[in-house]
Amino acid sequence: MPAAMTVEERASASGRVLAARDRYVPRGVLTPSLVVDRAQGARVWDVDGREYLDFGGGIACQNLGHGPEPVVRAIHEQADRYLHQCFMVGTYEPYVEVCRRLAELWPRAAAGGPTSRPGAGGFGAGASSLPGAETKSLLVNSGAEAIENAVKIARSATGRPAVVVFDRAFHGRTTLTMAMTSKLVYKQGFGPLAPEVYRAPAPYPYRGVSTDDALHGLQLLFKQDVDPATVACIVLEPVQGEGGFIPMPPDFVQALRRICDEHGILYVDDEVQSGCGRTGTVWAIERLGVEPDLIVSGKTLGGGLPLAAVTGRAELMDAVHVGGLGGTFGGNPLACAAAVAVLDELAAPGFRERAEHVAALLRRRLDEIAARQPLVGEVRGLGAMLALELREQSAEVATATAAAAFENGLILLSCGLYGNVIRLLPPLTATDEELERGLGLLEEALGNAGAGQG
Ligand SMILES: Cc1ncc(COP(=O)(O)O)c(C=O)c1O
Repeated sequence: MPAAMTVEERASASGRVLAARDRYVPRGVLTPSLVVDRAQGARVWDVDGREYLDFGGGIACQNLGHGPEPVVRAIHEQADRYLHQCFMVGTYEPYVEVCRRLAELWPRAAAGGPTSRPGAGGFGAGASSLPGAETKSLLVNSGAEAIENAVKIARSATGRPAVVVFDRAFHGRTTLTMAMTSKLVYKQGFGPLAPEVYRAPAPYPYRGVSTDDALHGLQLLFKQDVDPATVACIVLEPVQGEGGFIPMPPDFVQALRRICDEHGILYVDDEVQSGCGRTGTVWAIERLGVEPDLIVSGKTLGGGLPLAAVTGRAELMDAVHVGGLGGTFGGNPLACAAAVAVLDELAAPGFRERAEHVAALLRRRLDEIAARQPLVGEVRGLGAMLALELREQSAEVATATAAAAFENGLILLSCGLYGNVIRLLPPLTATDEELERGLGLLEEALGNAGAGQG
Protein backbone atom coordinates (compact mmCIF):
# COMPACT_ATOMS: atom_id res chain seq x y z
CA MET A 1 0.00 0.00 0.00
CA PRO A 2 1.45 3.44 -0.91
CA ALA A 3 2.85 5.14 2.21
CA ALA A 4 1.18 8.42 1.18
CA MET A 5 -2.33 6.98 1.57
CA THR A 6 -4.38 8.53 4.38
CA VAL A 7 -6.60 6.56 6.80
CA GLU A 8 -9.72 7.76 4.93
CA GLU A 9 -8.23 6.74 1.59
CA ARG A 10 -7.45 3.30 2.90
CA ALA A 11 -11.06 2.98 4.05
CA SER A 12 -12.50 4.04 0.65
CA ALA A 13 -13.48 1.59 -2.04
CA SER A 14 -10.81 3.09 -4.29
CA GLY A 15 -8.20 2.69 -1.56
CA ARG A 16 -8.98 -1.01 -1.20
CA VAL A 17 -8.65 -1.66 -4.93
CA LEU A 18 -5.45 0.38 -5.14
CA ALA A 19 -3.96 -1.53 -2.23
CA ALA A 20 -4.77 -4.85 -3.93
CA ARG A 21 -3.44 -3.45 -7.20
CA ASP A 22 -0.12 -2.72 -5.49
CA ARG A 23 -0.04 -6.21 -4.06
CA TYR A 24 -0.87 -8.13 -7.24
CA VAL A 25 0.09 -5.98 -10.27
CA PRO A 26 3.72 -5.11 -11.07
CA ARG A 27 4.84 -1.50 -10.69
CA GLY A 28 6.01 -1.46 -14.32
CA VAL A 29 2.36 -0.90 -15.29
CA LEU A 30 1.94 2.76 -14.39
CA THR A 31 -1.58 3.33 -13.01
CA PRO A 32 -3.32 6.42 -11.69
CA SER A 33 -5.44 6.57 -8.54
CA LEU A 34 -8.71 6.57 -10.50
CA VAL A 35 -10.67 3.36 -9.82
CA VAL A 36 -13.53 3.21 -12.28
CA ASP A 37 -17.02 2.02 -11.49
CA ARG A 38 -18.84 3.01 -14.70
CA ALA A 39 -18.59 5.40 -17.63
CA GLN A 40 -20.99 7.00 -20.11
CA GLY A 41 -20.33 9.54 -22.84
CA ALA A 42 -17.72 12.01 -21.57
CA ARG A 43 -18.15 11.02 -17.92
CA VAL A 44 -16.59 8.47 -15.63
CA TRP A 45 -17.66 7.60 -12.08
CA ASP A 46 -15.27 6.08 -9.58
CA VAL A 47 -16.11 3.35 -7.09
CA ASP A 48 -16.59 5.99 -4.38
CA GLY A 49 -19.24 7.79 -6.46
CA ARG A 50 -17.11 10.74 -7.66
CA GLU A 51 -17.81 11.97 -11.17
CA TYR A 52 -15.08 12.95 -13.63
CA LEU A 53 -15.06 14.52 -17.07
CA ASP A 54 -12.92 12.34 -19.29
CA PHE A 55 -10.48 14.20 -21.55
CA GLY A 56 -8.28 11.10 -21.96
CA GLY A 57 -10.64 8.50 -23.44
CA GLY A 58 -8.51 5.58 -22.26
CA ILE A 59 -5.76 7.14 -24.46
CA ALA A 60 -7.69 7.97 -27.61
CA CYS A 61 -9.96 4.93 -27.64
CA GLN A 62 -13.24 6.73 -27.04
CA ASN A 63 -13.59 9.25 -29.85
CA LEU A 64 -17.30 8.32 -29.73
CA GLY A 65 -17.46 8.54 -25.94
CA HIS A 66 -17.95 5.75 -23.43
CA GLY A 67 -20.65 3.23 -24.30
CA PRO A 68 -22.06 4.63 -27.56
CA GLU A 69 -25.48 3.03 -27.93
CA PRO A 70 -25.07 1.49 -31.45
CA VAL A 71 -21.68 0.02 -30.49
CA VAL A 72 -22.94 -1.48 -27.23
CA ARG A 73 -26.02 -2.88 -29.02
CA ALA A 74 -23.84 -4.49 -31.71
CA ILE A 75 -21.65 -6.10 -29.03
CA HIS A 76 -24.70 -7.47 -27.17
CA GLU A 77 -26.17 -8.91 -30.36
CA GLN A 78 -22.87 -10.53 -31.29
CA ALA A 79 -22.40 -11.87 -27.74
CA ASP A 80 -25.67 -13.78 -28.08
CA ARG A 81 -24.48 -15.47 -31.30
CA TYR A 82 -20.85 -16.45 -30.55
CA LEU A 83 -17.88 -14.92 -28.74
CA HIS A 84 -14.94 -16.48 -30.50
CA GLN A 85 -14.07 -18.66 -33.46
CA CYS A 86 -10.49 -17.82 -34.45
CA PHE A 87 -10.55 -16.58 -38.02
CA MET A 88 -8.16 -19.38 -38.98
CA VAL A 89 -10.65 -21.99 -37.75
CA GLY A 90 -14.06 -20.57 -38.63
CA THR A 91 -14.53 -17.65 -41.05
CA TYR A 92 -17.14 -15.15 -39.88
CA GLU A 93 -18.80 -12.19 -41.50
CA PRO A 94 -18.07 -9.40 -38.96
CA TYR A 95 -14.31 -9.72 -39.70
CA VAL A 96 -14.89 -9.50 -43.45
CA GLU A 97 -17.32 -6.63 -42.96
CA VAL A 98 -14.75 -4.55 -41.05
CA CYS A 99 -12.26 -5.11 -43.89
CA ARG A 100 -14.87 -4.11 -46.47
CA ARG A 101 -15.61 -0.88 -44.62
CA LEU A 102 -11.91 -0.11 -44.23
CA ALA A 103 -11.63 -0.47 -48.03
CA GLU A 104 -14.50 2.01 -48.42
CA LEU A 105 -12.72 4.46 -46.13
CA TRP A 106 -9.33 4.23 -47.86
CA PRO A 107 -7.98 7.77 -48.51
CA ARG A 108 -7.18 8.08 -52.19
CA ALA A 109 -4.91 10.79 -53.58
CA ALA A 110 -5.76 12.94 -56.62
CA ALA A 111 -5.18 11.36 -60.02
CA GLY A 112 -2.14 12.96 -61.63
CA GLY A 113 -1.29 14.92 -58.49
CA PRO A 114 2.16 14.84 -56.87
CA THR A 115 1.06 12.12 -54.50
CA SER A 116 -1.08 10.01 -56.80
CA ARG A 117 -0.87 6.24 -57.01
CA PRO A 118 -1.72 4.21 -60.11
CA GLY A 119 -5.47 3.92 -60.52
CA ALA A 120 -6.29 6.40 -57.76
CA GLY A 121 -9.44 8.51 -57.80
CA GLY A 122 -10.04 12.07 -56.55
CA PHE A 123 -8.81 13.43 -53.24
CA GLY A 124 -10.21 15.99 -50.87
CA ALA A 125 -13.03 16.51 -48.40
CA GLY A 126 -15.02 13.71 -50.02
CA ALA A 127 -12.15 11.21 -50.16
CA SER A 128 -13.75 8.98 -47.55
CA SER A 129 -16.96 8.61 -49.48
CA LEU A 130 -15.38 7.28 -52.68
CA PRO A 131 -16.29 3.73 -53.64
CA GLY A 132 -14.07 1.10 -52.03
CA ALA A 133 -10.44 1.04 -53.08
CA GLU A 134 -8.69 -2.20 -53.99
CA THR A 135 -7.45 -2.77 -50.49
CA LYS A 136 -7.41 -5.68 -48.09
CA SER A 137 -7.07 -5.63 -44.31
CA LEU A 138 -5.57 -7.81 -41.60
CA LEU A 139 -7.17 -7.57 -38.15
CA VAL A 140 -5.15 -8.03 -34.97
CA ASN A 141 -5.40 -7.23 -31.25
CA SER A 142 -3.35 -4.10 -30.64
CA GLY A 143 -1.66 -1.18 -32.32
CA ALA A 144 1.78 -2.65 -31.69
CA GLU A 145 0.78 -5.98 -33.23
CA ALA A 146 -0.60 -4.14 -36.25
CA ILE A 147 2.64 -2.16 -36.68
CA GLU A 148 4.63 -5.42 -36.43
CA ASN A 149 2.46 -6.91 -39.14
CA ALA A 150 2.75 -3.82 -41.34
CA VAL A 151 6.54 -4.26 -41.18
CA LYS A 152 6.22 -7.98 -41.96
CA ILE A 153 4.03 -7.19 -44.97
CA ALA A 154 6.38 -4.41 -46.16
CA ARG A 155 9.41 -6.71 -45.86
CA SER A 156 7.62 -9.49 -47.68
CA ALA A 157 6.41 -7.18 -50.47
CA THR A 158 9.78 -5.48 -51.04
CA GLY A 159 12.21 -8.24 -50.08
CA ARG A 160 14.09 -5.60 -48.02
CA PRO A 161 14.93 -5.59 -44.30
CA ALA A 162 15.23 -1.97 -43.10
CA VAL A 163 12.63 0.23 -41.44
CA VAL A 164 12.89 4.02 -41.07
CA VAL A 165 11.13 5.72 -38.17
CA PHE A 166 11.30 9.23 -36.76
CA ASP A 167 12.26 11.21 -33.67
CA ARG A 168 9.59 11.16 -30.95
CA ALA A 169 7.73 8.26 -32.62
CA PHE A 170 5.58 5.90 -30.61
CA HIS A 171 4.67 2.64 -32.30
CA GLY A 172 4.24 0.22 -29.38
CA ARG A 173 5.95 -1.87 -26.73
CA THR A 174 6.71 -5.24 -28.38
CA THR A 175 10.30 -6.15 -29.22
CA LEU A 176 10.18 -4.73 -32.74
CA THR A 177 7.95 -1.76 -31.96
CA MET A 178 9.92 -0.63 -28.91
CA ALA A 179 12.93 -0.37 -31.21
CA MET A 180 10.75 1.81 -33.44
CA THR A 181 9.55 3.89 -30.47
CA SER A 182 11.75 6.77 -29.45
CA LYS A 183 11.40 7.34 -25.70
CA LEU A 184 13.86 5.57 -23.44
CA VAL A 185 11.34 4.69 -20.72
CA TYR A 186 9.66 2.26 -23.13
CA LYS A 187 12.83 0.28 -23.87
CA GLN A 188 15.27 0.86 -21.02
CA GLY A 189 16.67 -2.48 -19.86
CA PHE A 190 14.67 -4.51 -22.41
CA GLY A 191 17.37 -4.98 -25.06
CA PRO A 192 18.77 -6.26 -27.27
CA LEU A 193 16.45 -4.32 -29.53
CA ALA A 194 15.34 -5.48 -32.97
CA PRO A 195 17.89 -4.68 -35.71
CA GLU A 196 17.41 -2.78 -38.98
CA VAL A 197 15.45 0.09 -37.43
CA TYR A 198 16.81 3.55 -38.36
CA ARG A 199 15.65 6.88 -36.95
CA ALA A 200 15.43 10.18 -38.85
CA PRO A 201 14.48 13.64 -37.59
CA ALA A 202 10.86 14.77 -37.86
CA PRO A 203 9.76 18.39 -38.14
CA TYR A 204 9.06 20.16 -34.85
CA PRO A 205 8.63 23.83 -35.77
CA TYR A 206 8.06 25.00 -32.18
CA ARG A 207 11.50 23.68 -31.17
CA GLY A 208 13.19 24.85 -34.36
CA VAL A 209 13.16 21.73 -36.58
CA SER A 210 11.77 22.65 -40.01
CA THR A 211 10.67 20.41 -42.87
CA ASP A 212 13.99 21.16 -44.62
CA ASP A 213 15.99 20.22 -41.50
CA ALA A 214 14.12 16.94 -41.23
CA LEU A 215 14.54 16.09 -44.92
CA HIS A 216 18.23 16.91 -44.67
CA GLY A 217 18.45 14.49 -41.73
CA LEU A 218 16.84 11.77 -43.82
CA GLN A 219 19.29 12.43 -46.64
CA LEU A 220 22.17 12.05 -44.17
CA LEU A 221 20.66 8.83 -42.83
CA PHE A 222 20.61 7.47 -46.39
CA LYS A 223 24.27 8.48 -46.86
CA GLN A 224 25.62 7.42 -43.47
CA ASP A 225 23.57 4.58 -42.03
CA VAL A 226 21.30 2.79 -44.43
CA ASP A 227 21.13 2.37 -48.20
CA PRO A 228 17.61 3.41 -49.27
CA ALA A 229 17.62 0.42 -51.65
CA THR A 230 17.46 -1.81 -48.55
CA VAL A 231 14.58 0.06 -46.87
CA ALA A 232 11.24 -1.77 -46.87
CA CYS A 233 9.19 1.04 -45.35
CA ILE A 234 9.09 4.31 -43.52
CA VAL A 235 6.59 4.52 -40.68
CA LEU A 236 5.21 7.89 -39.59
CA GLU A 237 2.37 9.18 -37.42
CA PRO A 238 0.68 12.06 -39.31
CA VAL A 239 0.21 13.74 -35.93
CA GLN A 240 2.78 12.43 -33.48
CA GLY A 241 0.82 11.21 -30.47
CA GLU A 242 2.85 10.17 -27.42
CA GLY A 243 5.66 12.29 -28.89
CA GLY A 244 3.75 15.51 -28.17
CA PHE A 245 0.76 15.97 -30.53
CA ILE A 246 2.96 17.39 -33.27
CA PRO A 247 1.21 17.58 -36.65
CA MET A 248 3.49 16.68 -39.52
CA PRO A 249 3.61 19.55 -42.05
CA PRO A 250 1.94 18.63 -45.38
CA ASP A 251 5.11 19.51 -47.36
CA PHE A 252 7.12 17.03 -45.24
CA VAL A 253 4.62 14.22 -45.71
CA GLN A 254 4.40 14.94 -49.45
CA ALA A 255 8.19 14.98 -49.77
CA LEU A 256 8.38 11.63 -47.95
CA ARG A 257 5.86 10.19 -50.40
CA ARG A 258 8.07 11.30 -53.31
CA ILE A 259 11.21 9.90 -51.64
CA CYS A 260 9.42 6.58 -51.06
CA ASP A 261 8.37 6.44 -54.71
CA GLU A 262 11.88 7.28 -55.88
CA HIS A 263 13.47 4.47 -53.87
CA GLY A 264 10.68 1.85 -53.96
CA ILE A 265 10.04 2.26 -50.23
CA LEU A 266 6.55 1.70 -48.80
CA TYR A 267 4.89 4.53 -46.87
CA VAL A 268 3.26 3.20 -43.68
CA ASP A 269 0.82 5.65 -42.08
CA ASP A 270 0.44 4.99 -38.33
CA GLU A 271 -3.06 6.26 -37.54
CA VAL A 272 -3.47 4.31 -34.30
CA GLN A 273 -3.90 7.53 -32.29
CA SER A 274 -4.69 10.13 -34.97
CA GLY A 275 -7.22 8.03 -36.88
CA CYS A 276 -10.87 7.05 -36.49
CA GLY A 277 -12.17 10.60 -36.73
CA ARG A 278 -9.93 12.30 -34.18
CA THR A 279 -8.87 15.03 -36.61
CA GLY A 280 -12.29 15.33 -38.29
CA THR A 281 -11.58 13.16 -41.33
CA VAL A 282 -11.50 9.40 -40.73
CA TRP A 283 -7.71 9.38 -41.26
CA ALA A 284 -5.50 12.38 -40.48
CA ILE A 285 -3.51 11.77 -43.67
CA GLU A 286 -6.59 12.71 -45.71
CA ARG A 287 -5.81 16.29 -44.71
CA LEU A 288 -2.22 16.07 -45.94
CA GLY A 289 -2.79 15.23 -49.61
CA VAL A 290 -0.92 11.92 -49.56
CA GLU A 291 -2.00 8.36 -50.24
CA PRO A 292 0.01 5.92 -48.12
CA ASP A 293 0.78 2.31 -49.02
CA LEU A 294 -0.37 0.86 -45.71
CA ILE A 295 -2.52 2.36 -42.95
CA VAL A 296 -2.33 1.05 -39.40
CA SER A 297 -5.39 1.75 -37.23
CA GLY A 298 -6.44 0.78 -33.71
CA LYS A 299 -7.65 2.35 -30.46
CA THR A 300 -11.11 3.86 -31.26
CA LEU A 301 -11.53 1.30 -34.07
CA GLY A 302 -12.84 -1.32 -31.61
CA GLY A 303 -14.98 1.19 -29.69
CA GLY A 304 -13.31 0.07 -26.46
CA LEU A 305 -12.65 -3.56 -27.42
CA PRO A 306 -9.16 -4.58 -28.53
CA LEU A 307 -8.90 -4.35 -32.30
CA ALA A 308 -6.32 -2.99 -34.72
CA ALA A 309 -5.87 -3.27 -38.46
CA VAL A 310 -3.36 -3.10 -41.29
CA THR A 311 -4.97 -1.94 -44.52
CA GLY A 312 -3.21 -1.66 -47.87
CA ARG A 313 -3.40 -2.22 -51.58
CA ALA A 314 -4.30 -5.81 -52.38
CA GLU A 315 -1.04 -6.64 -54.16
CA LEU A 316 0.98 -5.59 -51.11
CA MET A 317 -1.24 -7.35 -48.59
CA ASP A 318 -1.18 -10.50 -50.73
CA ALA A 319 2.63 -10.47 -51.00
CA VAL A 320 2.78 -12.55 -47.82
CA HIS A 321 2.69 -16.32 -48.30
CA VAL A 322 -0.42 -18.29 -47.31
CA GLY A 323 -0.43 -18.85 -43.54
CA GLY A 324 2.11 -16.08 -42.85
CA LEU A 325 -0.35 -13.80 -41.05
CA GLY A 326 -2.84 -14.42 -38.25
CA GLY A 327 -3.27 -14.99 -34.52
CA THR A 328 -5.73 -16.64 -32.13
CA PHE A 329 -7.80 -13.62 -31.18
CA GLY A 330 -7.06 -11.20 -34.05
CA GLY A 331 -10.36 -9.79 -35.30
CA ASN A 332 -12.37 -11.22 -32.43
CA PRO A 333 -16.08 -11.27 -33.39
CA LEU A 334 -17.19 -8.94 -30.57
CA ALA A 335 -14.49 -6.41 -31.44
CA CYS A 336 -15.44 -6.65 -35.13
CA ALA A 337 -19.14 -6.13 -34.41
CA ALA A 338 -18.17 -3.07 -32.38
CA ALA A 339 -15.88 -1.80 -35.17
CA VAL A 340 -18.59 -2.05 -37.82
CA ALA A 341 -20.78 0.17 -35.63
CA VAL A 342 -17.87 2.56 -34.97
CA LEU A 343 -17.05 2.87 -38.68
CA ASP A 344 -20.74 3.50 -39.42
CA GLU A 345 -20.75 6.34 -36.90
CA LEU A 346 -17.56 7.85 -38.36
CA ALA A 347 -19.05 7.77 -41.86
CA ALA A 348 -22.48 9.08 -40.75
CA PRO A 349 -23.64 12.48 -41.97
CA GLY A 350 -22.83 15.16 -39.42
CA PHE A 351 -19.91 13.35 -37.76
CA ARG A 352 -17.26 15.47 -39.42
CA GLU A 353 -19.18 18.71 -38.78
CA ARG A 354 -19.45 17.85 -35.09
CA ALA A 355 -15.72 16.98 -34.91
CA GLU A 356 -14.85 20.31 -36.54
CA HIS A 357 -17.14 22.15 -34.13
CA VAL A 358 -15.39 20.43 -31.18
CA ALA A 359 -12.01 21.30 -32.72
CA ALA A 360 -12.94 24.99 -33.10
CA LEU A 361 -14.28 25.20 -29.55
CA LEU A 362 -11.19 23.54 -28.06
CA ARG A 363 -8.80 25.64 -30.15
CA ARG A 364 -10.50 28.92 -29.20
CA ARG A 365 -10.40 28.14 -25.47
CA LEU A 366 -6.82 26.82 -25.61
CA ASP A 367 -5.72 30.02 -27.38
CA GLU A 368 -7.39 32.04 -24.61
CA ILE A 369 -5.62 29.98 -21.94
CA ALA A 370 -2.27 30.41 -23.73
CA ALA A 371 -2.80 34.18 -23.95
CA ARG A 372 -3.40 34.37 -20.18
CA GLN A 373 -0.93 31.78 -18.97
CA PRO A 374 2.78 32.45 -19.61
CA LEU A 375 3.70 28.82 -18.83
CA VAL A 376 2.17 27.82 -22.18
CA GLY A 377 4.53 27.92 -25.13
CA GLU A 378 2.34 26.65 -27.96
CA VAL A 379 -1.18 25.50 -28.79
CA ARG A 380 -1.09 23.01 -31.63
CA GLY A 381 -2.68 20.02 -33.27
CA LEU A 382 -4.87 18.96 -36.14
CA GLY A 383 -8.67 18.99 -35.92
CA ALA A 384 -9.70 17.99 -32.43
CA MET A 385 -6.32 16.36 -31.70
CA LEU A 386 -5.03 19.34 -29.74
CA ALA A 387 -2.49 20.05 -27.05
CA LEU A 388 -0.70 22.72 -25.05
CA GLU A 389 3.08 22.51 -24.92
CA LEU A 390 4.58 24.13 -21.84
CA ARG A 391 7.69 26.24 -22.35
CA GLU A 392 9.76 24.38 -19.79
CA GLN A 393 11.08 21.00 -21.05
CA SER A 394 10.29 19.20 -17.83
CA ALA A 395 7.32 17.07 -16.77
CA GLU A 396 6.81 18.81 -13.44
CA VAL A 397 4.10 21.35 -14.30
CA ALA A 398 2.18 19.05 -16.67
CA THR A 399 2.15 16.29 -14.03
CA ALA A 400 1.04 18.74 -11.34
CA THR A 401 -1.65 20.08 -13.70
CA ALA A 402 -3.03 16.61 -14.37
CA ALA A 403 -3.04 15.89 -10.62
CA ALA A 404 -4.80 19.17 -9.79
CA ALA A 405 -7.33 18.61 -12.58
CA PHE A 406 -8.03 15.12 -11.26
CA GLU A 407 -8.72 16.52 -7.78
CA ASN A 408 -11.34 18.79 -9.37
CA GLY A 409 -12.93 16.06 -11.49
CA LEU A 410 -11.12 16.17 -14.85
CA ILE A 411 -9.12 13.32 -16.37
CA LEU A 412 -6.21 14.80 -18.29
CA LEU A 413 -3.19 13.19 -19.97
CA SER A 414 0.24 14.53 -20.69
CA CYS A 415 2.66 13.41 -23.42
CA GLY A 416 5.87 14.47 -25.18
CA LEU A 417 9.47 13.33 -24.93
CA TYR A 418 9.85 15.56 -21.86
CA GLY A 419 6.32 14.99 -20.55
CA ASN A 420 5.58 18.72 -20.86
CA VAL A 421 2.65 18.54 -23.28
CA ILE A 422 -0.97 18.46 -22.06
CA ARG A 423 -3.06 16.67 -24.67
CA LEU A 424 -6.81 16.80 -25.05
CA LEU A 425 -8.71 13.70 -26.10
CA PRO A 426 -12.32 14.35 -25.09
CA PRO A 427 -15.01 12.39 -26.92
CA LEU A 428 -16.12 14.11 -30.10
CA THR A 429 -19.64 13.46 -28.85
CA ALA A 430 -19.16 15.56 -25.68
CA THR A 431 -21.59 18.46 -25.23
CA ASP A 432 -20.39 22.04 -25.49
CA GLU A 433 -21.12 22.44 -21.79
CA GLU A 434 -18.89 19.47 -20.93
CA LEU A 435 -16.09 20.76 -23.13
CA GLU A 436 -16.28 24.30 -21.71
CA ARG A 437 -16.39 22.99 -18.16
CA GLY A 438 -13.40 20.69 -18.76
CA LEU A 439 -11.39 23.53 -20.28
CA GLY A 440 -12.25 25.72 -17.29
CA LEU A 441 -10.97 22.98 -14.97
CA LEU A 442 -7.82 22.66 -17.10
CA GLU A 443 -7.10 26.39 -16.88
CA GLU A 444 -7.65 26.39 -13.12
CA ALA A 445 -5.40 23.35 -12.67
CA LEU A 446 -2.66 24.89 -14.78
CA GLY A 447 -2.87 28.07 -12.73
CA ASN A 448 -2.60 26.11 -9.47
CA ALA A 449 0.26 23.97 -10.78
CA GLY A 450 2.13 27.07 -12.01
CA ALA A 451 1.63 28.84 -8.69
CA GLY A 452 2.91 25.72 -6.92
CA GLN A 453 6.14 25.94 -8.94
CA GLY A 454 6.62 29.63 -8.28
C1 LIG B 1 0.65 6.08 -32.88
C2 LIG B 1 0.60 4.81 -32.10
N1 LIG B 1 1.00 3.66 -32.68
C3 LIG B 1 0.97 2.50 -32.02
C4 LIG B 1 0.52 2.42 -30.73
C5 LIG B 1 0.50 1.11 -30.01
O1 LIG B 1 -0.81 0.72 -29.80
P1 LIG B 1 -1.17 -0.37 -28.66
O2 LIG B 1 -0.97 0.32 -27.35
O3 LIG B 1 -2.62 -0.70 -28.94
O4 LIG B 1 -0.26 -1.51 -28.86
C6 LIG B 1 0.09 3.59 -30.09
C7 LIG B 1 -0.38 3.55 -28.69
O5 LIG B 1 -0.49 4.55 -28.00
C8 LIG B 1 0.13 4.82 -30.78
O6 LIG B 1 -0.25 5.96 -30.22
